[in-house]
Amino acid sequence: MVRVTFLTAKGERVAAEGEDGQSLLELAQASGMPLEGTCEAQMACSTCHVIVAPEWFDKLPPAVEDEEDMLDLAAGVARTSRLSCQIVLTPALDGLEVRIPEEARDMQRG
Ligand code: FES
Repeated sequence: MVRVTFLTAKGERVAAEGEDGQSLLELAQASGMPLEGTCEAQMACSTCHVIVAPEWFDKLPPAVEDEEDMLDLAAGVARTSRLSCQIVLTPALDGLEVRIPEEARDMQRG
């Protein structure tokens, strides 16, 4: 079990429990976070963008160049931004905290 805390754009904390090998995007969606994940982890969209808590950012395997390129196009990008579809949960990430950016697409639909 890998525990993750999502901080929503409204400032709510949502605790979730994922599984070893599950992607962070899958867990976020299962927890009701408004991440579309339009391209299904092909690194061709940025709708799965999350901002990782600084103390956790360095514990993640670094982003590959394609991910960096996509993040450059993401709205509300921060120094610790990542594409959640590229983060695979492992026991080492138990306790992970990530923030959902305000610019998540769902909010623009009205
Ligand atoms: S789902 Fe498209 S880049 Fe993550």
